[in-house]
Amino acid sequence: MLPTDKPFLSSIPGNNNETRDSIYRGDIYLSDSNDATTSLVKDVKDRIQKELGVEDIRKAHLELSDAEFFERMGNLRKLFYLDEKYHDHLRNVIASYGFNPNRTAFDPIRIRVILPGGHRNPKAAPVYFPHRDTWYAHPQSLIVGWIPLHDLSANETFEFFPDYFDQEVPNNSEIFDYADWIKDGPALKIGWQNKDSGLSAGYSKASANHNPGRRIRFCCESGEALFFAGSHYHQTLEQDLGTIRYSLDFRLVNLDDVKLAKGSPNSDNRSKGDILSDYIQP
Ligand SMILES: [Fe+2]
Repeated sequence: MLPTDKPFLSSIPGNNNETRDSIYRGDIYLSDSNDATTSLVKDVKDRIQKELGVEDIRKAHLELSDAEFFERMGNLRKLFYLDEKYHDHLRNVIASYGFNPNRTAFDPIRIRVILPGGHRNPKAAPVYFPHRDTWYAHPQSLIVGWIPLHDLSANETFEFFPDYFDQEVPNNSEIFDYADWIKDGPALKIGWQNKDSGLSAGYSKASANHNPGRRIRFCCESGEALFFAGSHYHQTLEQDLGTIRYSLDFRLVNLDDVKLAKGSPNSDNRSKGDILSDYIQP
């Protein structure tokens, strides 16, 4: 295991074609916060504070019942994903790191909440599955963005398995069909209604007992932005640190790269359907 604290590239190339090509080859960037991410993080935290109405949002689980917390977070999930204001925030964020908003389709902001001890809740099991984001019907040119709302140590973020970036991982991604996923509307996709969906929905996962090889962990500061290929094999870490971990993630696809069939290698993704058509188009 290699629990390195700052293992990634920090300086995004000035030319975004270079940035994307390097990400498709497996490079991971963890870039400093800037005005765009700071503004997004402040706005999101203020909104969480307002919705939850608790003393400290990172300790909301001590003040609210599970049902109340889930319901209020559901309202926030919907807001951050659907509201134009947050689409504009995201356009500013991606432009600030050199991605061209006029050529980039995006799957909007999803807020992630990792509760202390959350891994002991069977309904949350899919949150901790090791996976590639491409196993969920995203194209191979997918670039994932991730922004923490707090400074986080390397044992409360997630870890990458670099040995399997382009090596096959035995998995059941063929069970994932995007058309089935959204047949009852977008709620399952974003998870704002049914808190039992983790027990019943068809989430892609790796075969049990697969050894993922080397592990790379990282620490980060609030508002920093992590960018990595949708093919990276990775896993959210369990944590028992007493505080909630909040983060934002979003998905980017450059439409020119799709036309040219550019992207990261596909060694094992058999998911079906095309989520790209439901991205926010430029
Ligand atoms: Fe992921």
